[in-house]
Amino acid sequence: MKRGCRVRGRCTIIRILCPASQSKRSVMLKLIGISGSLRRGSFNTALLRAATGMMPDDAELEVQSIRGIPLYDGDVETQGIPAAVSVLKDAIAGADGVLLITPEYNNSIPGVFKNTIDWLSRPSADIKRVFGAKPFALIGASPGNFGTILSQAAWLPVLRTLGTRPWFGGRLLVSRAGQAFDETGTLKDEAVREQLRQFLAGYVAFVRERPPHESK
Ligand code: FNR
Repeated sequence: MKRGCRVRGRCTIIRILCPASQSKRSVMLKLIGISGSLRRGSFNTALLRAATGMMPDDAELEVQSIRGIPLYDGDVETQGIPAAVSVLKDAIAGADGVLLITPEYNNSIPGVFKNTIDWLSRPSADIKRVFGAKPFALIGASPGNFGTILSQAAWLPVLRTLGTRPWFGGRLLVSRAGQAFDETGTLKDEAVREQLRQFLAGYVAFVRERPPHESK
């Protein structure tokens, strides 16, 4: 163990045995996954379910839902933030990162999903607590040929506006989703499973990195 400590940072074999070197890795990351579909047989929710079972060992993906989030109404807001919104805001604030699993409607973000994020951004004084520098990533599934590419692109200005730290190191566009999942919603396409595994590994590594201003 002593030998491992002396060469810490350069050693690959000893690091596996050295508790000092392992301490950083052993902290489990807690990520949140939110599907932007309410549909029972949603491909995107099925993709989220698949992701929960394919996380790297040092991270867990907790499923949160947009169900129960009311339509945004400024008059409702003046009476107080709805409980379902506050609960989701606190869950995100307490998480290490957020994975959005987005469908595509009319080449953009589905209204129900955007509505949820809009609520989560209220009041604006709370945006920094909930979203500030939070590592976000996007994936999505569509029965069409383009796998939510335009919806994912449409999210980018939203994530920028909210001050998140989006991960651009990987991309997962699940096209022809009807063939990728079986009738029970299990992700059966081995190539997509491997893409998802690699995406999650890359994203988790990014979450674990501290942004430059925090590592000084
Ligand atoms: C769609 N769909 C769709 N798909 C796509 O790839 N590009 C698009 O622009 C649209 N537009 C669109 C608009 C509306 C109003 C609906 C209801 C649907 C099809 C969509 O990808 C499909 O319904 C997915 O199955 C939705 O995702 P979930 O519910 O399966 O997760």
